[in-house]
Amino acid sequence: MKRIRKAVFPVAGLGTRFLPATKAIPKEMLPVVDRPVIQHVVDEAREAGIEHFIFVTGRNKGVIEDHFDKQFELEATLERRGKTAELELLSSDLPGAGQTSFTRQQEPLGLGHAVWCARELVGDEPFALLLPDMLHHGPRGCLAGMMEVHRETGGNVISVYEVPRDQVSQYGIVGVGESRGKSFRITSMVEKPKPADAPSNYMISGRYILQPDIFALLEKQTVGAGGEIQLTDSMLALLQTQPFFGYRFEGRIFDCGSKIGFLAANVAYALARDDIAPAFRNELKALLG
Ligand code: G1P
Repeated sequence: MKRIRKAVFPVAGLGTRFLPATKAIPKEMLPVVDRPVIQHVVDEAREAGIEHFIFVTGRNKGVIEDHFDKQFELEATLERRGKTAELELLSSDLPGAGQTSFTRQQEPLGLGHAVWCARELVGDEPFALLLPDMLHHGPRGCLAGMMEVHRETGGNVISVYEVPRDQVSQYGIVGVGESRGKSFRITSMVEKPKPADAPSNYMISGRYILQPDIFALLEKQTVGAGGEIQLTDSMLALLQTQPFFGYRFEGRIFDCGSKIGFLAANVAYALARDDIAPAFRNELKALLG
């Protein structure tokens, strides 16, 4: 079985829900505590053993490229001031030379189209896909757990998360088949269904391990829900010839594409930090009265 070496991060979205904060800054660079959202997601991929990071960007996303590069002036200043902890942090966060690639989605045609834009960089091997809006917070990274399932099952693996029925129309939803240890066979998929048409309340939570055969299906550029080229539609087509497994993530998921999800993520990540939690808890208590 081929090892999963590469991960794709679609970061071309406009971030209109966070205006004016995202007028000049990509939404992926908004901080959750002191790390940009995209850094948290890259951390998760590195924990899972990913070696190459492919970003599908768009106009005005240049600072994401700068973030994953050396900053010589800053490092020289930190060095002069003897700030070794900060220097170490910067260097341990940085992927190695040649381990990042950037390509652009030239038009906002949907997630399926964004993933297809990475086809030349991924090549003919299975790959991981991580949607930066969705922060998966738990003792162990979601993708690391999915890798373990994939080593046992092969095929394609998608992380899933239970949501209340009245929220299913915001997400892709899977049909649940027989259980296999920590995972289950996926029997169907539908993008943003009405609650009455949803095959379950397990939403597709934004972490995928996909076979490269997905690219030939995405190539057809079929338009689906919301007038967009949907990844879910091509995965459903691939399900006719290859197995898909659902991986139930055991931590908490924050949808940082929404204001409430983003704010809740900041609280949860701060409370999980030994250096911040005690003082922050006091502030929260005072605020909540
Ligand atoms: C995308 C996927 C959807 C998934 C969701 C998770 O939708 O198409 O299947 O459930 O991400 O955030 P989007 O949020 O881009 O509308």
